[in-house]
Amino acid sequence: MGDKKALLYEGKAKQIYETGDPETVIVFFKDDATAFNAQKKGRVEQKGKMNNAITALVYEYLGKKGIETHFIEKLNNREQRVRKVSIVPLEVIVRNYAAGSMAKRLGVEEGVPCPETIFEICYKKDELGDPLINDHHAIFLGVASHEDLEMMYTLASRINDALKELFDRIDIILVDFKIELGKTTRNQIILADEISPDTCRLWDKKTLKKLDKDRFRRDLGEVTEAYVEIYERLKKVLEK
Ligand code: TMP
Ligand code: ASP
Repeated sequence: MGDKKALLYEGKAKQIYETGDPETVIVFFKDDATAFNAQKKGRVEQKGKMNNAITALVYEYLGKKGIETHFIEKLNNREQRVRKVSIVPLEVIVRNYAAGSMAKRLGVEEGVPCPETIFEICYKKDELGDPLINDHHAIFLGVASHEDLEMMYTLASRINDALKELFDRIDIILVDFKIELGKTTRNQIILADEISPDTCRLWDKKTLKKLDKDRFRRDLGEVTEAYVEIYERLKKVLEK
């Protein structure tokens, strides 16, 4: 256990604090929002509180589905206790429909369904703007082995199946999402970071209204409302 001690790391949307326990850290969710590699900066009222609550609900749900995550417990409105892992410097993106950077890169309309799930990896490196890379590059960089990559794609696919089922129950289309994975001291790869409207594209099934960070990225307005809406819908099906 242990209480919040020194700040270990500060990212764009979260802070990570040491605790008295070397095996665990505390994540603090900020209201800060950035986009396009932090060229666009802002604040979204209540975002920290919502992403903390949404991530807690989603990681508890995934845990029950047999998916190992770093999540231990929600401590308060803005903080959760998680297992300390070493983050693999790759973002794994899973796509069920074309959108965002893939729609742009391939010159296709947003919303076109992917006949097979599409997986992408990006190298987490702010100076380079987190470039899209492939497995060969990841191995060249020494950030993951063939076995690690295989485990990461398998885990991402299981997470996608579980999340599609969950979001379908709340009338949301899971367009795409990004996950980050961490290695435990025993070299096990588990789900880390967060899953929230910051890291997913979530469209209302009936109206196709975007209920995610694209509202901030694209100046669509009603940003806080979108995060609250996702939380309220998830709460209805997941909270006892
Ligand atoms: P993209 O279409 O911009 O590549 O985004 C794909 C998914 O990844 C989308 O759900 C948003 C999420 N994402 C992040 O979580 N962090 C990021 O830095 C970026 C660029 C995307
Ligand atoms: N969080 C990312 C950044 O500021 C981008 C994004 O989510 O669109 O770089």
